[in-house]
Amino acid sequence: MKTANIQSISNEVHKTKKIRERDNRHFLHPWEDMGYHGHNERTAAISCEGIYLYDSDGKKLIDGPGGMWCTQIGYGRKEMVEAIAEQAAKLPYFSPFNLTCDVSAQLAEKVASLTPGDLNTVFLTTGGSTAVDTALRLMMFYNNFRGRPEKKITISREDAYHGSTYLSATVSGKFRDKNYQDAADDLVKFISSPNPYRRSKEMTEQEFRDAKVQELEDTILELGPDKVGAFIAEPILASGGVVVPVPGYHRMCLDVCRKYDVLYISDEVVTGFGRLGYWFASEPVFDIQPDIITSAKGLTSGYLPLGACIVSDRLMKEMGGEKAEGAVFSNGYTYSGHPVSCAAALKNIEIMENEKILEHVREVSPHFLNRLQELRDIPIVGDVRGQGLMACVECELKKDEESPLELDYKMGLRIDNHCQKLGLMVRPVVNMNVMSPPLIITKTQIDEMVDILREGIIRAMKDLEQEGLWKPAQC
Ligand SMILES: Cc1ncc(COP(=O)(O)O)c(C=O)c1O
Repeated sequence: MKTANIQSISNEVHKTKKIRERDNRHFLHPWEDMGYHGHNERTAAISCEGIYLYDSDGKKLIDGPGGMWCTQIGYGRKEMVEAIAEQAAKLPYFSPFNLTCDVSAQLAEKVASLTPGDLNTVFLTTGGSTAVDTALRLMMFYNNFRGRPEKKITISREDAYHGSTYLSATVSGKFRDKNYQDAADDLVKFISSPNPYRRSKEMTEQEFRDAKVQELEDTILELGPDKVGAFIAEPILASGGVVVPVPGYHRMCLDVCRKYDVLYISDEVVTGFGRLGYWFASEPVFDIQPDIITSAKGLTSGYLPLGACIVSDRLMKEMGGEKAEGAVFSNGYTYSGHPVSCAAALKNIEIMENEKILEHVREVSPHFLNRLQELRDIPIVGDVRGQGLMACVECELKKDEESPLELDYKMGLRIDNHCQKLGLMVRPVVNMNVMSPPLIITKTQIDEMVDILREGIIRAMKDLEQEGLWKPAQC
C-alpha cells in the first residue's frame, strides 16, 4: 500500500514536470514577463467541479477569482456539456457574414430581453476585447455616418481595463501594461480613477465624486465636444482593483455625456451576467441606460469564448433607413455568433434562471463582503472593498505611503503561494487580492475561502517580517 502511494505520487510529480516542460518551451501566456519565459512554475489545472479546481498534483483548490471573473455557474455542469455536444453535432459552424442560424438569433433575442431600456441589437463577438473593439468602431462608424469625422476621441479612466486588441488596449488605463506596447494615443484621453480610497483626507466622498464628474466635463470642453465620441467605463473597475465608485457617479457622468452628445459605453464584461446580482448592473445598480453595453465572460460562464456588443435602438435608428444604403459596418469575425458558443450561452442563461442564481448572489454577497471586511484587523490589510460577488483585499506594507512596486509584487506572490498551499487560488494584481468566486458559492464555502485567505496573508506578513521587509507599527 505504502509503495503504491509513493508510486502514484511520483507519477503525479512526473506529470506536473512534463506539463511544465511543454508549457515553458512552447506556450507563450498572456501578460508574460519575458524575463521569466521558459522558467515558470505555473500550477497546471487538470479537472474541476463546482467551485473547485484540481491541479496536476491532485490538489483541490477553491477558485477564488472564478477563472477570470467568468465561471458563474461553476465547473463540471453536465447539462452544459450536453448542450455544447448537441450543437457541435447538429451545426458546429455557419458563416455569419451571409447566413444566420437559429441558436444565434435566439441568443441575440434573449440577451436583448435582459438589457436595460432600448438596447435591443446584439453584435456577437469572440470575447470581451472584441466586444469593446466593436463598440469603439461602431462609435467611429456612427460619427462618420453622421458627417462628424472629427468626433472620435474616447475618454477613458486610469485603472481601467478594456482588453487586448489595439483599440481596446488603447483605451485601457493601467499604465504599467503599456510599458513596451504602442497605442493609438491620439484616439484616447484619460481622466483619473474614481477610487475613493485614494482621495485626499480633506475631501468627503461626495466632494470627491463631484470632482471626478467635473473632470469628465472639463476634459470634454478642453478637447471640444465636437472631438469627443465616447466615454467608456466599467461600472466597477475590475482588474484595476475592484474600484467601486461613490453612488451617483455613473448617473452624473451619463448626464454630462448626454449634454455633449457623447456616447456612453458601459463595459460590463465583468459585471454582466450576475456578478452584482443582476443580468447587467448598469440600470438596477447604477441607474444608467447607456448607449452601448459590452459583455463576455459570464455570458457562457467561461465554457466557450463569446462576447457581445449591445446597441441602443436610438443609435441603430440614426444609422439606418434609406440614407444608410451602402454604408457598410465593416467589422466582424469568422466566429461572430458561433453556434456552439451561442448554445452554451443559452444553456448558461437557462441554468441561471432555473437555479435563481441572481437571487442567490444577492442573498450571499452581504455575507461575502462582511467576512472579507473582517480581514481589516490584519496589520498589512489596507483596504477591503467590493460589491456583489466581486471584492478586493488590498495589502500595503507602508500605511499612508506608497511602497515600492517590487515589494508589493513580492507580497502578492507570497500571499498567492501560501493560499495555494492551503487550498485557495487567489489572483493578486500586484498587492491586490481580487476575489470573484463562481456565483454558486455557498455561505459555508465563503467562510472556508476567507479563512484560508486570512491565514495566507498572515503567513506572508510573517515571512516579510522575518526578512526585515516589514515590521509591526509601534503602539
Ligand atoms: C472590463 C473588461 N473589459 C474587457 C475585457 C477583455 O475581455 P477578454 O479578455 O475576453 O478579451 C476584460 C478582461 O478581463 C475586462 O475585465
